[in-house]
Amino acid sequence: MKEIIITLAAATLYATSLAQAPQLRPDNIDEVLEAMTLREKATLLVGELSANQQAYGTQISHSDRYIPGAVGNTYPIPRLGIPPTVMADGPAGLRIFTKRNYDSKTYNCTGFPIGTSLAATWNEDMVSRVTEAMGNEVLEYGVDVILAPGNNIQRNPLCGRNFEYFSEDPVLSGNIAASYIRGIQNNGVGTSLKHFAFNNQETRRLGADAIVSQRAAREIYLKPFEIAVKKAQPWTVMSSYNKVNGEYTNCRYDLLTDILRDEWGFQGIVVTDWGAFFKADKCLPAGNDLVQPGSPDFIDEIVEAVESGALDMEYVDTCVHRMLEYIVKTPRFRKYVFSNEPDLEAHAAIVREAAAEGTVLLKNDGALLPLDGVRNVAVFGCGSYRPIAGGTGSGDVNKAYIVSLIEGLNKAGYDIDNTLVDEYTKYLWAYDEKMSKLEWWQRNPVAPEFIPEALVESVEKNDLAVVTIQRQSGEGRDRHADDFCLDADDRELLVRVADAFHKAGKKVVAVLNVGGAIETASWKDIPDAILLPWQCGQEIGHTVADVISGKSVPSGHLPMTFPIKLEDHASTANFPLDSPDISGWGDEDRYDRPNVDYTHYEEDIYVGYRWFDKQGLDVSYPFGYGLTYTTFGFGNMTLEKVSEDEVEVRVDVTNTGKRAGKQTVQIYVSAPERKMDKPVQELKGFAKTALLEPGESQTVTIRIPVMDLASFDAAQSAWTVDAGTYVFRAGDNSRNILCESVLKLGKRQEKVSDSLKLIENK
Ligand code: BGC
Repeated sequence: MKEIIITLAAATLYATSLAQAPQLRPDNIDEVLEAMTLREKATLLVGELSANQQAYGTQISHSDRYIPGAVGNTYPIPRLGIPPTVMADGPAGLRIFTKRNYDSKTYNCTGFPIGTSLAATWNEDMVSRVTEAMGNEVLEYGVDVILAPGNNIQRNPLCGRNFEYFSEDPVLSGNIAASYIRGIQNNGVGTSLKHFAFNNQETRRLGADAIVSQRAAREIYLKPFEIAVKKAQPWTVMSSYNKVNGEYTNCRYDLLTDILRDEWGFQGIVVTDWGAFFKADKCLPAGNDLVQPGSPDFIDEIVEAVESGALDMEYVDTCVHRMLEYIVKTPRFRKYVFSNEPDLEAHAAIVREAAAEGTVLLKNDGALLPLDGVRNVAVFGCGSYRPIAGGTGSGDVNKAYIVSLIEGLNKAGYDIDNTLVDEYTKYLWAYDEKMSKLEWWQRNPVAPEFIPEALVESVEKNDLAVVTIQRQSGEGRDRHADDFCLDADDRELLVRVADAFHKAGKKVVAVLNVGGAIETASWKDIPDAILLPWQCGQEIGHTVADVISGKSVPSGHLPMTFPIKLEDHASTANFPLDSPDISGWGDEDRYDRPNVDYTHYEEDIYVGYRWFDKQGLDVSYPFGYGLTYTTFGFGNMTLEKVSEDEVEVRVDVTNTGKRAGKQTVQIYVSAPERKMDKPVQELKGFAKTALLEPGESQTVTIRIPVMDLASFDAAQSAWTVDAGTYVFRAGDNSRNILCESVLKLGKRQEKVSDSLKLIENK
C-alpha cells in the first residue's frame, strides 16, 4: 500500500512538472528557452547520430531512426514538446532508402536533373517547377529538410562535385539556386544551401584552405549565396568542410555572422557539413548552430565548455533560439501526416520536360536534328545502354529506374539495331563481372572488341548512328586531368563510326552524358550533330529521344565555358590536377602540399568567361552557348532607370525561323573606364522566352538593381558603382551580342564589413 502511495505521489509530481514545462509553440520560444537545462540546450545543437552512422563513419551515411536513408536527425525533447527533425540528401532529388526491413513497400524517389542541367535551362520558373515536385517528395516521405541546393562556383572543370553545382557565374548560380529553394520551400519543408563557402575542390575536402582575395570572395564565391539568401531565405545553410584564408568556415564569425546574417539578413540555422571539424567554443560563437551528424561527445563538450567558462551561455542561447525557430516551421512540428505516396508519375513527366529544356544543342550541321525521315538507328557507346542519371555520392538519388537511350528511342518509334543491342548487352555483362571489384572511377567501359565487325552490317542496315560519350564524377574526388579529354577508346569509337557512316552518306549524332565541361575542340568536327543532355535524371533516354525526334525542342545554354584546353582556365594553374585520393582524415596538421592542403585562388575574379574574355582566348563553346531548332532576332532594346535603385532592360525577341523554340536573353554589362581592373563584361541578368511559334515575338523585361553593377573595393570594404557610362549588351551567349544600349550612372557606394582577412600560419 505504501509503495502504491509513493508511486502515485511520484506520478503526480512528474505530471505537475510536465504540466509546468512549457510546450513549444511558434509564439513561446523565449519561454521554452528559459525552461531548458544546459544539457537540453546542448542536445538541441548536436545531431542525433544513429547506431548505423557510428558503425559506418559519418560521411554519406544514414540514420534510420525515423526515415531510413536520411542522413541526420535532431534530438526530440519530449518534456518541452520539441519533436525531432529529419534531414536527408539532395540535390538531384530526395535520397532515402527504397526498402525498409519492416514492410514490403518501396520508397522510390525521383531522379531529377543534376544542378548543372537545371542551370542550363536558364529558366527560373522551370527550376521552381522541378523543385516544387522534389519538395513534395520531401514532404510526403516525412523529411523536414533536403540538404540542397549545392551552390559553389565551378572554379575549374575538374572539381568532382561540379555536377551538383550550377555554374561558373555567380548571377546564374545565385538566381537558379533561389528558384530551386523557392520551389522546395513552397511545400512547407526546408532546404540547406551548401557548401558555404569556397568548397571548390574535393581533394583534401575536409580541410583544404582556400586562399582567396576579399574581392574574389565577394564578387565570385559569395555572390551566388548572397543572391540565394536574399531572394529565397533557405531554412538552413550548410557550412563547408574547408577553410578559407586560414580558418575553417564554420569557425568564422565574419562569414557566418557578419556577412551571412548581419549583411544578408539570413534568418535560419547554420549546420556543419557531415563530419566537419567541430569545436564548441569556436563554432557556436561564430554562428554555426548545429553539428551533424553529431555525437554524444559533442553534447558533453558544449556542456563542459559552458561550465568551464570557455563558452559564453549567450552564444548557446542564441543558437538554441534559432534552432527552436527552425523546428516550429517543420512538418514534424506541425504533426503533418505524410503519405509515403508522392505522385512519382507526375514528377517523372516534369523531369522529362525540364531535362529537354536543359539540353544544349552544341552542333546541328545541315539542320540534321530534329530527324526527318530516319527510322533505323544504330546506337553505339556503353552510355547509350547504361546512361548516367546523376553524379555519385550524397547527391545520388535512389530512383526506381533510368531510361536508357535504347528504350527511349524504341518507344519514340525508331527501329534500333538489335545486333548492336545484343552485342552491347553481352559486353556489359562480361565487363561488370570483370570490374565488379573496382570503384566507380576506375570503370569506363568504352572499347568493345565487337565494334569493327558489327559496324559493317550496321552501316548497311541503318539510316543514322548515335554515339554516346559519358563521364562520371562524384563526391570525394576531383576528376583527373585526363578525364577532361576523350580517351583513346572514346575517340576511336567516334572516328570509326563516323568514318563508316559518312562513307555511306549517313549521319552521326554524338550525345554527351556528362556532368560538366569536357574537351570538345579536337573532335567536334567529326559528328554532324552534338547533343548535350548532361546527366539529366531518370528519364534521360526519353529526353534524348524527345529532342532527337523534335517532340521537345532543346533550349539549354551552357552554364560554363567549354575551353579548348584545360590549361586555358587560369584556375588550372592552382588546382589538384592529378586528383590525389586525399580526403583529409587524419591530415589536420598538414600544410605543406600546394593545391591539397591549401590552394591559392591566384586568378582572383577571373574565373570562367571573365578570364577568357580578358585574355581574348578562343574557346570551343562560349559561356551561355546553345543552339535551337529555329533562329531568333533581338531588337528594340531599351534601358530605363525605373527608380533610383533599378534599371529595366527590354528586348524584343522574334522567332525568325521555321520551327517553334525558346530563346534565352543574356544581359552582359561592361563597366566604364575606372581605377579598378574590371572584367570585359559580366552577366547581370537573364530571362527565357515562352515557346515562340515562327514569326512570333515577345518583349522580354529584365530588372537589374543598380547596386548589382558594383565591384568590390577591398581597400574601402565597399561595393562601389563607379560613375560613368555602362554598356548593357544583350546576347544569346557571351560571345554573340546581338544588341546593346548605354546608360549613364552616378557613383554609388555601400560599405560592408572588412571580412575574410587572411589568418596567417594556419
Ligand atoms: C556532403 C554533403 C552532404 C552530407 C550528408 C557530406 O559529405 O559534403 O553535401 O549533404 O555529407 O550526406
